[in-house]
Amino acid sequence: MVALPEGDKQTRWNALHALVQADAVCRANVRPGKKVVLGVGDLEAKIMFVGEAPGAEEEIQGEPFVGPAGQLLTKMIQGMGLKRTEVYIGNIMNWRPQMPTAPGREQVGNRPPTEGELHYCLPYLRAQIEVVNPAVLVALGSTATQGLLGWGSFKALGDVRGRWHEFGGKPLMVTYHPSYILREPTNRKKRMIWEDLLKVMERAALPISERQRGFFLEK
Ligand code: URA
Repeated sequence: MVALPEGDKQTRWNALHALVQADAVCRANVRPGKKVVLGVGDLEAKIMFVGEAPGAEEEIQGEPFVGPAGQLLTKMIQGMGLKRTEVYIGNIMNWRPQMPTAPGREQVGNRPPTEGELHYCLPYLRAQIEVVNPAVLVALGSTATQGLLGWGSFKALGDVRGRWHEFGGKPLMVTYHPSYILREPTNRKKRMIWEDLLKVMERAALPISERQRGFFLEK
């Protein structure tokens, strides 16, 4: 449990931001010159997206989803008729999980967090959910889903995606991570994620046009 001061959302978020930045474990897990990363976005957002962990770009900029997967996520959000700044975007992890890297070299690639790492950071995600109090949560990919549904709680993401679950009393939609589409950008895959996002739009009472309903239907 992260203890936050009384006050408005911005006051509480600022306090949370300061706590994460000062967290000795978080700091020990980022290399010199790189940043500990907390979520960003509208503190009044109805929709909160939850991803896995910062990657190379994110740990430089100190903001989630600003690299290639982030650019795709931004397009998905725009497809929903929203601006990136109108939702809240967080991650399960506050640091980029480290991989063996020669001194003076940049880390190449990413690895998923361990169970221990994930559980260390989870209270910070819970605190962000508490502050923002969104109407709907969206887990992007396996790691986010492991964090929110429980480590080892499902075998394949396909078994739990596209359905409503619950986390901390909030409706939680599970879908694929945008990087899944980056690896193989077919309309079939885009449509799978899009159908999950249409459910999110319905739940968040966003207007949905016929055009939006038909996105990615062509083969
Ligand atoms: N992938 C994630 O899951 N989170 C980020 O912040 C960037 C890429």
